[in-house]
Amino acid sequence: MSSLQNKRIVVGITGGIAAYKTIEFIRLLRKANAEVRVVLTPAAAEFVTPLTLQAISGNAVSHSLLDPQAELAMGHIELAKWADFVVIAPASADFLARLNAGMANDLLSTICLATAAPIFVAPAMNQQMFRQAITQQNIQSLRLRGVEFIGPNSGEQACGDVGAGRMSEPAEIFTVLENAVSLSQDLMGLSVAITAGPTQEAIDPVRYISNHSSGKMGFAIAQAFAQRGATVTLISGPVNLPTPNNVRRIDVVSAQQMWQAALESAVQNSLFIGCAAVADYRVANIAEQKIKKAGDEMQLTLVKNPDIIADVGHLRENRPFTVGFAAETQNVAEYAKDKLQRKKLDMICANDVSGGQVFGADQNALQLFWQNGSIKLPQSSKQQQAQKLVDAIVEKMNEKTNEKN
Ligand code: C5P
Repeated sequence: MSSLQNKRIVVGITGGIAAYKTIEFIRLLRKANAEVRVVLTPAAAEFVTPLTLQAISGNAVSHSLLDPQAELAMGHIELAKWADFVVIAPASADFLARLNAGMANDLLSTICLATAAPIFVAPAMNQQMFRQAITQQNIQSLRLRGVEFIGPNSGEQACGDVGAGRMSEPAEIFTVLENAVSLSQDLMGLSVAITAGPTQEAIDPVRYISNHSSGKMGFAIAQAFAQRGATVTLISGPVNLPTPNNVRRIDVVSAQQMWQAALESAVQNSLFIGCAAVADYRVANIAEQKIKKAGDEMQLTLVKNPDIIADVGHLRENRPFTVGFAAETQNVAEYAKDKLQRKKLDMICANDVSGGQVFGADQNALQLFWQNGSIKLPQSSKQQQAQKLVDAIVEKMNEKTNEKN
């Protein structure tokens, strides 16, 4: 199976005669079952037609930043977020200069600036343009920023010159991309179940008890594992977030539903992460009809919900490596360590929610605790925290496996 299967790839085409070869590259991507969306610069549209590219990629082709129709179908920011990888082939000298300068003056450069996905470029230009100090500086600086270069090759050029600047062959670009992706899929074979978001505990048909959890952290963790090739099941309470690519999502509402889905998943996975803010209590008797307003006070009897992660931690058979979260407003370390023991977890991620700065926020700072150690992950975006958390969890899981052997 190709590492590119189900991967979402934005193929950018800039102005150059080599653009005709990109049609073959897109065909190879489609054969590997990748999803492809093509973005053309205005100059590229002079060399290859949107109609051809639409037929070959199976999707509408985008070529204008200010096209209301295209924005309606998939806006440029949406496209930047959709991409797992961006490949620009051919990448002209002009485009490399604009990419390096951080310009966003057409659709493709805007997508490159707005995406978090890795960017690959296959340059194609006249040999003299390629050799120019300014082009080489641009390439050097883009490389330092993590842009991957494929080629160019040397040989006879369309203009009659001979030298470096020919775009790599479609099969070559495909193989470099496929290999890079498979190397980045180092967690293939690992299966993880993650709970995320709040739960809602019904009071009557129209009211419920819940909390401020947005689900962002759990979704970021699911995305970080999936991007590295792990098989991810995300058990989510009611949230307003899109499902990350390559993640199986199970939607639940109440803690009891989450418990059911989580316990079923836990025994089938080698790792379980409880990131959900599960309601500790639910209403003892949910009213069948809407409760009518009556006296000045009313009482609800609450009963305890099952502690999902504690039940997973205490599993006797097929117990996964179990990681919990602890959102605390005081004595963060002390309470977190207590939960680590009590719930029989392998690791706990503590965050200080005093002041309410974590719920719904895009930034977070975590401190991880395990049996005999701890590390702090300094404040950063939830995406970056998730990536560091994945590294830390994988390291501890490996240590545990090595101890057993
Ligand atoms: O006890 P506390 O709710 O602070 O513990 C937080 C951790 O326990 C989180 O990992 C959360 O997902 C998990 N939890 C759970 N089921 C509950 C309550 C909390 O899985 N009923």
